[in-house]
Amino acid sequence: MGTLTNKRVLVGVTGGIAAYKTADLIRRLRDAGAETRVVMTAGAAEFITPLTLQAVSGHPVHEQLLDTEAEAGMGHIDLARWADVIVVAPASANFLARLAQGRADDLLTTVCLAAAVPVAVAPAMNQQMWANAATQNNMRTLRARKIHVLGPAEGEQACGEIGPGRMLEPLELVARVSELFATGELEGLKVVVTAGPTWEAIDPVRGITNRSSGKMGYAVAAAAAEAGARVVLVSGPTALPDPPRVQTVRVVSAQDMYDAVHSHLEGAHIFIGVAAVADYRVEQAAPGKIKKTADRLTLELVRNPDILAAVAHRRPHIYCVGFAAETDDPEANARAKLASKGIDLVAANRVGPGLGFEADDNELLLVDRDKSKRLARAPKSSLARALIHEVAVRYHAESRAQDSRQASRN
Ligand code: CTP
Repeated sequence: MGTLTNKRVLVGVTGGIAAYKTADLIRRLRDAGAETRVVMTAGAAEFITPLTLQAVSGHPVHEQLLDTEAEAGMGHIDLARWADVIVVAPASANFLARLAQGRADDLLTTVCLAAAVPVAVAPAMNQQMWANAATQNNMRTLRARKIHVLGPAEGEQACGEIGPGRMLEPLELVARVSELFATGELEGLKVVVTAGPTWEAIDPVRGITNRSSGKMGYAVAAAAAEAGARVVLVSGPTALPDPPRVQTVRVVSAQDMYDAVHSHLEGAHIFIGVAAVADYRVEQAAPGKIKKTADRLTLELVRNPDILAAVAHRRPHIYCVGFAAETDDPEANARAKLASKGIDLVAANRVGPGLGFEADDNELLLVDRDKSKRLARAPKSSLARALIHEVAVRYHAESRAQDSRQASRN
């Protein structure tokens, strides 16, 4: 799996000779695991055809702002919401000037204006145009607005001149885009995450399980790794591939998950229980396949250990986060769970039509001792990043408070 797995990259293309390299950039982004969509300006279409970019991105290219058909499909607001990051490559002098002015006079500038996600630009132009005070002034404005400026590189230009103004090479751009997701907020910390369902055997072929896909837990583990943590993901049976840069431990039953978690807790700072652990197991799984000879069959179920509550109880210095699937009154239920399990934070997710187990989107209500905070409906990958940010902020505040309590005792 690549460094951009589960990332949605909206590639903007503007008019410049370097636009021919954008096809390769899109291919490289997809090789790195990203999902891509393309928005072209009218100028870009003079240099590369929408058909080429449609073929490499795997989706129709978006070109028009005022097109009722396009807006009825994925309109400018949907595109802005869809993206985890917007990368404009090449970014022409004209586009950078329009972006600096906050214009919304075509689809690409409008999407950039409507987006709440990071925007990166890869300038490409004649070296004199780049050096021009007007362009440099625009770049200062854009940097002050936290737009990420990738490049330009120096070298021989299409116009025959030599100097700064070449678009960065596609592989370099992919590396720089990946870095945008690396926040470093959990640098030096160890995080243990559980994910997926558990499988409680009834006999060698049957079992009790649930509909958890593992998507949320895997996204949380990936986001923690991106934030710089050393991550151990203890996963029940899922169809998902191991997340990149994460140590994945595959288990089957709740008891296996309990054992695996406890054997990886040494040196851990944060535990996040996302798994939908079966509350009960069959006391004694049948050694052979149960035949349908009897009219009735009674299974005796016994309680499984509560992994999250045990971690919180046995390792009070670990910052513990639990998930709660709720259909109603999430805040009250989450608060009750916070107290009963002795944990630090509950992420309550609503389950219902279009939300929860198998859906790609979710929303969360974060409840800790002091307050609650809503994380709006979003794809699970961006929601996981937002959750990791909230956990990091709380973890660091808690350890600062502990340090100052310790200092005042000494
Ligand atoms: N959990 C766990 N071990 C269990 C059961 C649950 O670690 N044996 C964790 C889950 O990973 C999750 C949280 O505890 O973080 C969920 O708590 P739970 O009490 O099971 O809540 P719900 O699933 O919402 O169930 P209910 O409210 O119906 O009891």
